Amino acid sequence: MDKLDMSIIIDNLKADILGRNIEYFEKIDSTNTYAKTNICDIEHGTIIVSETQSSGRGRQGNHWDSQKGKGLWMSIVVKPKINITDSIKITSVVALGVRKGIKNIINESVHIKWPNDIIINKKKVCGILVESVISGENIGGIVIGIGINVSHSKDYFEKIDYASSINIESISTVSREEVFISVVNAVEMELDTFFITKKLDIKELKNHSVFYGKNVKVIKKDSEILGKVIDFLEDGQIVIEDYQNDRIIINSSDVSIRGLNSYID
Ligand code: BTN
Repeated sequence: MDKLDMSIIIDNLKADILGRNIEYFEKIDSTNTYAKTNICDIEHGTIIVSETQSSGRGRQGNHWDSQKGKGLWMSIVVKPKINITDSIKITSVVALGVRKGIKNIINESVHIKWPNDIIINKKKVCGILVESVISGENIGGIVIGIGINVSHSKDYFEKIDYASSINIESISTVSREEVFISVVNAVEMELDTFFITKKLDIKELKNHSVFYGKNVKVIKKDSEILGKVIDFLEDGQIVIEDYQNDRIIINSSDVSIRGLNSYID
């Protein structure tokens, strides 16, 4: 297995703050768990990256598969002055950055499946898991977990037909180092703007969403809602119009969204 070449990454990273410190592991349980556990000792902008994770975590308690040396499994720790309401928007801000970072190095269209998946050719190539560490009434730190499938082989996804990797879906072949550099640079630009304005770029979110204007199935723990995605809101929620023309605001926590017939369609 080729290990990540950290010297290429350090020499080419243009981000001012993100990645100034990088903690590299060959194996870890989960970069997010490590970052949360050690949040007090980790500086703003630090990136934890590992070749593999034994207990990688996704949203809603899902396991995140982290094949050794085939993807980027990393957590970015930030410690902004931000309130809890604004912190909820960070998943969308990071999704815009990761989308742009991947788009900048490949020719294919790259989309966002709200709230946290990055999609190429209707397949998930990346997931984002943002976790806040609250101390008292303040945010002690935010852990931005990013898992990107880069160079897995096609047969790896035989049984997970909604997922894929960048190099399967793209004509050009990219290295994990290129993806790391491009994504971290783009995420830093999005976060810098957001930490000043505290505003989401709704226009960009709509432009790059796989579901804006489409009929979808919103899956909650005990129920499902069918309807069309008609809006993205300033606070990070989305609006669905159901078949009775009622408008329902959907919060990202504990829901997942699918197309009516498949993952996207
Ligand atoms: C999802 O799609 O449900 C989110 C997946 C997030 C996976 C990344 S990999 C690096 C970081 N460490 C984890 O345990 N999870 C995130």
